[in-house]
Amino acid sequence: MPESLTGARDVLSPAVLSECVRAATAAPSLHNSQPWRFRLRDGGVDVYADQRRRLDVLDPAGRELLISVGAALFTLRLAIRREGFLPGVALFPDAGDADLVARVTVGRPEPVTPAVEALAASIAHRHTNRRPFARSMVPADVLEHLRDAARREGAVLTVADAPARDAIVRLSRAADRRLRARGGYRAEMSRWTAPGTGRRDGVPSSAVGPWDALETVPIRDFGLLRPLPPEPGGFEPYPTIMVLGTEGDGRAEWVTAGQALQRVLLAATWQNLATTPISQPVEIPAVRRLLTATAGGTWAQMVIRVGYGRPAAATPRRPLSQVLLLPGPDPR
Ligand SMILES: Cc1cc2nc3c(=O)[nH]c(=O)nc-3n(C[C@H](O)[C@H](O)[C@H](O)COP(=O)(O)O)c2cc1C
Repeated sequence: MPESLTGARDVLSPAVLSECVRAATAAPSLHNSQPWRFRLRDGGVDVYADQRRRLDVLDPAGRELLISVGAALFTLRLAIRREGFLPGVALFPDAGDADLVARVTVGRPEPVTPAVEALAASIAHRHTNRRPFARSMVPADVLEHLRDAARREGAVLTVADAPARDAIVRLSRAADRRLRARGGYRAEMSRWTAPGTGRRDGVPSSAVGPWDALETVPIRDFGLLRPLPPEPGGFEPYPTIMVLGTEGDGRAEWVTAGQALQRVLLAATWQNLATTPISQPVEIPAVRRLLTATAGGTWAQMVIRVGYGRPAAATPRRPLSQVLLLPGPDPR
């Protein structure tokens, strides 16, 4: 590896960049669809959307696909930053290739701060947690820390007050009913929840929590997957729910929302909080419009539940060989 006169590295080797990409694949994605691909370039990484992994029924516009890619993009930036370099990002740099979401460049060396270290250390510990959370309040300064994480990525995180929280839970239930009535919904869900097939994508049964008999929490019903037995005490009656919003609602804002989502989730993990991304209410346009009104006038992109809970299991990821494109012409 080239070393500068001070002994510090002044570039990242392909091997280290590949490890940064591996870290990026730990990001959350809709139904663990992992709709991303990466190509190492001299001095950086190109990040692509993989449209073959879009969920046509749930996500016909590819909004959640780009949120998922945005989450991986933030993780890649953080991993490069953790290696002691400033990452640069150009979103949609090639007008002729809509699937090239971002060109990430490795900029100048920059010392790693304790905050970067802590956020990067959270990458492997962040898991979607669908279990009941403790009935304790999340302190205001911790919530402010999460709002700040979203702000730093150009998004707005609104903590729902009691009436907004109750409305979101109600809207989520209504959205869930309407989704289940959508043609193809069940078939698509079962394609991404095939327990015991040895696949490295999709939602495994180990990731599903107990059934929320009182429906106080807007947890998605994963249909085929058998819920865990009820836990004593059940779900928290007053969940802490936040809405992540962006000023606009185009492809760039969806990527922004994904980057902000992952920064918020990692900041929460660092604060020992468990998290559940919730998207049913933003998958029905009419319900999303209502939710947008509670999100401080910004476009609602995602709902996030946070709280204190027992650890959740990790979900599988596809190996690097399946997500790293080879240099040269794109074989797609
Ligand atoms: C755009 C997006 C939407 C999601 N929607 C939901 C949801 O509605 N309900 C849910 O339980 N999890 C949801 N998730 C979480 C994913 O299911 C989860 O990230 C994926 O299964 C991988 O698991 P992990 O987060 O534990 O790594 C969503 C994640 C993303 C990025």
